Amino acid sequence: MSGRVDQLVVNGPTRLSGEVVVPGAKNSVSKLLAASMLAPDTSEFSNVPRIEDTAVTLDICKSLGTVLEAPRDRSLRVATNAIISSEVPADLARQNRLSVMMLAPLLHRTGMAVVPGAGGDRIGVRPVDFHISAYRKMGADVEIQDDAYVLRSDGLSGCEIELPYPSVSATENILMAGALAEGRTYIRNAAIEPEVIEVALFLQKMGAIIEHKVERTFVVEGVGKLNGAVHEIMPDRLVAATIGTAALVTGGDVFLRHARQRDMLSFLNTVRKIGGSFQIDSEGIRFFRDGPLRPIAMETSVHPGFMTDWQPPFVVLLTQASGMSVIHETVFEDRFGFVEQLKEMGADIEIYDTCLGGTRCRFAEKGYRHSAVIRGPARLRGTDLEIPDLRAGFTQLIAAIAADGESRLTGVEQIDRGYEDIDETLRALGASIERCEAASDKSALQAS
Ligand code: EPU
Repeated sequence: MSGRVDQLVVNGPTRLSGEVVVPGAKNSVSKLLAASMLAPDTSEFSNVPRIEDTAVTLDICKSLGTVLEAPRDRSLRVATNAIISSEVPADLARQNRLSVMMLAPLLHRTGMAVVPGAGGDRIGVRPVDFHISAYRKMGADVEIQDDAYVLRSDGLSGCEIELPYPSVSATENILMAGALAEGRTYIRNAAIEPEVIEVALFLQKMGAIIEHKVERTFVVEGVGKLNGAVHEIMPDRLVAATIGTAALVTGGDVFLRHARQRDMLSFLNTVRKIGGSFQIDSEGIRFFRDGPLRPIAMETSVHPGFMTDWQPPFVVLLTQASGMSVIHETVFEDRFGFVEQLKEMGADIEIYDTCLGGTRCRFAEKGYRHSAVIRGPARLRGTDLEIPDLRAGFTQLIAAIAADGESRLTGVEQIDRGYEDIDETLRALGASIERCEAASDKSALQAS
């Protein structure tokens, strides 16, 4: 991390209103860059987001041999004529979750992959056991050396893989592995998030044969060779939904240009159920309030359910609804870390280790605090906040904008990983928000 540590100083409350252009999706571009490395020739991407996470991903690609050009604004031309190392550098691997996605290009093209433990948000244990056991099943030799997975293979073979849970990145990883494997790979209980479908579509453009069957199954017929391809990165439905939520929390009115209804069906349904309003047209989605918010009992789930990443800002939204709401988080076991600080701001929220709201999930009786009861409406007041992870950080920022008085947020680099120029974006919507340099890492931490 660079020596510079930024703080955001927010003065609230403000209603957010105006327009935001939704950039390309963080969680799509990184996987497609990894997929492009399965072929030696050039791929081209447009609508590439300008965020820190993509910068880290590009550093990982470059360290393995990718040569980049940016022919136009937000476009990238990438070519990996030769893979120059089979090892993802540990310092880069720690900075996001991409390293494990390098298994397929490294193994297929060099016969070996050394992948250190990944970083990313602290929202649960986040193991990569599904990925590793799939590669084992496809014939790779796996060892663990100095905290890194070392895989060797002289050719992966297709097989039947049933995922214990529909993991997004494991499904994407196996799609990539299967594309160049010998024979057919079946991925059952696969994730079907729009970002996963983008990987399948991009691989198909590269020359892969991938069928999407009903009931969460992909069938990948291995081909001998893939080519480069051209692709526009899908709009970021996490950015769209979370800024839409910010508009609703503050009683504002924001148009999210390029937001796509088809990627946000369950989000939009839930907004409607609690009394929020939206209007959809061919250019995007406008979020606004024209009445009071109602409480709800809901749970997060894999696609097509309500995404886990939409949950933290929705908690703030439900602090503004009249009555008691319940949220059961079923995707990540530790995704309510931001709640303590919201409580300091005046929110009435209790976290439980039981499955509240009906469904018994994987976290039942394991002691994970994964259900929340929220009572509203609450009047929020500004305070000093330390950001724990990306979506939680954006959540705290929304709370600060809606709260009375000044809030100081440290750990802003977490938000910068996934949101473009967030302070400028929110200022343009009317928020009073300034970025300033905190004196040093130490004082920034002490400020929290
Ligand atoms: N899991 C395992 N073993 C594995 C893989 C996953 O137990 O080998 C478990 C996880 O611990 C979790 C569940 O399966 O409980 C789902 O994890 P998944 O693999 O689907 O998540 P991911 O691929 O690591 C991506 C996004 C997340 C998003 C989730 C769910 C990227 C880089 N990250 O994570 O986005 O929340 O899918 O949709 O694509 C974010 O952008 O802020 C973010 C956290």
